Amino acid sequence: MTTGAFPPSMEAYSRHILVCVGGYCSPDHRGRELYRLLPSLLQREGLLFGPGRVKRGETPCLGVCTHGPIVVVYPEGVWYGDVTPSLLERIVVEHLRDGKIVDEAVFFRMKAPTPSSRE
Ligand code: FES
Repeated sequence: MTTGAFPPSMEAYSRHILVCVGGYCSPDHRGRELYRLLPSLLQREGLLFGPGRVKRGETPCLGVCTHGPIVVVYPEGVWYGDVTPSLLERIVVEHLRDGKIVDEAVFFRMKAPTPSSRE
């Protein structure tokens, strides 16, 4: 069922953070705890509203399935592993708020597309 006019309108945002809540990378589902913590951390750092807001999402699997919980931040395409609540707080403050990637916790970085790969 389609509702309203297309395209839908959407307010600006600065980054998107995805948290794996699956049970393969983290058999005790610690990603769920991280996802529950996110709104209060984002609110505390002023990242829930306005053009600098951060969108968040949970996903059942990111295809890594080890060293979780896995957390990914776009548009940088930075993948964090073994994320604890304290590391999540650093990601929110240092990366999402201040724009400084928490390098020591990164295990993968998406390559920027080249001009020819976009055609
Ligand atoms: S279950 Fe988390 S990456 Fe697959």
